Amino acid sequence: MSRQRLRKEPDPRFWRLNRSLEFDKWLAPYDLDQSRAHARGLQRIGVLDADELAQMEAGLDRVGERMAAHGFAFEDSDEDIHMAIERLLGEEIGPLAGKLHTGRSRNDQVATDVAMVVQNHSMEAIDLCAAAMERLLTLAESHQDWALPGYTHLQRAQPVYLGHHLLAYFWMLARDVLRFQFALDSSSVMPLGSGALAGVNWEIDREAVAEDLGFDHVTHNSIDGASNRDFVLDYLSAASTCSMHLSRLGSEIVIWSSSEFGFCELDESFSSGSSIMPQKKNPDSAELLRAKSPRVAASFQTLLGVMHALPLTYGKDMQEDKEPLFDAIDTIEGLLDATAGMLEGIAFDRERMEAASGDEMLAATEVADLLVRRGMPFREAHGVVGGLVRDAVEGGKSLSELTPVELKQRSELLDETYYEVLQRGSWLESKRIAGGTGSAPLAAQIQAARETLAAVKARVAEERAE
Ligand code: ARG
Repeated sequence: MSRQRLRKEPDPRFWRLNRSLEFDKWLAPYDLDQSRAHARGLQRIGVLDADELAQMEAGLDRVGERMAAHGFAFEDSDEDIHMAIERLLGEEIGPLAGKLHTGRSRNDQVATDVAMVVQNHSMEAIDLCAAAMERLLTLAESHQDWALPGYTHLQRAQPVYLGHHLLAYFWMLARDVLRFQFALDSSSVMPLGSGALAGVNWEIDREAVAEDLGFDHVTHNSIDGASNRDFVLDYLSAASTCSMHLSRLGSEIVIWSSSEFGFCELDESFSSGSSIMPQKKNPDSAELLRAKSPRVAASFQTLLGVMHALPLTYGKDMQEDKEPLFDAIDTIEGLLDATAGMLEGIAFDRERMEAASGDEMLAATEVADLLVRRGMPFREAHGVVGGLVRDAVEGGKSLSELTPVELKQRSELLDETYYEVLQRGSWLESKRIAGGTGSAPLAAQIQAARETLAAVKARVAEERAE
């Protein structure tokens, strides 16, 4: 089809390269919806009469049923899903099928289908983010006062509450929601009506078609409409950042569930055994969270590369938008879903975490702040405490085992209060600043997280109701 201008049949080697049906068949339900809306647009301007529209709609329904039926196969000569649907519609309703392509080009057809996919899956990603956020919040609430060491450079740094640590991931996902929301908005502008690139000769009411298809706006410029794939990049960028967040969570779970740390254990339903070592329970799900992220980022990079330097408007290059998008959709949705599931069954070990966070060296900053309260500049205090730590390490002692005399050698300002500051517990509760790990700001944070989650869920419900 569409080869009347050409005398020769396509070379099989070209056909293999050019044929997109194997992956764009995924667009079938979107293409059918779009075709129904376009047909209604044509009927409103008299290109189709009411009876023709009814035949067209019924025909499109039957095409959808045929494609969904067991044993259905496309033909080798079907180039892409748009041509395949046109052929199948012809088989159902005869020459009338040919009227459907009035005032429509495959360029705006494919741009519109892909925008519909991005809209739909941005919403799905937001929904899945909300489910994972809910799990994190629930865990944070039930582990508000469980202490563990916080790390920098993967070295013990300062103790924090587990609730505080888990909520860090909550806020990452809350930002991911905003990014997916942006992709949803940018894909809610309908390109259909752009034609090949210049617009079409038929004054189809684009606003009405957009409304019919669930788009908020129509594009202002047909050249931009036919050549724009920013909304796909927006989705891929959101998905890349989101998967990067999940990879950090996965990585921490892998480390925390090692025997060396022993901070947490995944449920058996999210773990694997070893084929040779009977004792093993491996955190494969968390490892895969860690490893899938570059693949999503590669999809973003791929499409950015395809679009880069591409002259306006459509180039067949743009057919390469779909595989990265579809792969990223499958990947990020699978990751978010698995994250929520993994967090349902995770168990933390309070004793192990608390023992690790009781390491007195974690109180070094507290001692420095004691000196600051007594008038010493922080940089100087940092040096004094560094000296105390060295004394302790070299003397084979803990910080609280240093004698008052040893303290005085480092600073006249150090007295009995030093030993009080080293009492565990005060290190966490001293972080009373907004956003800090202390119980009071943590309670406020949990409240803020609840409100954020409620707003996201309300947004999803509102969007789904539309
Ligand atoms: N399969 C094509 C794609 O995905 C459809 C658009 C073809 N347009 C064209 N001018 N050849 O991009």
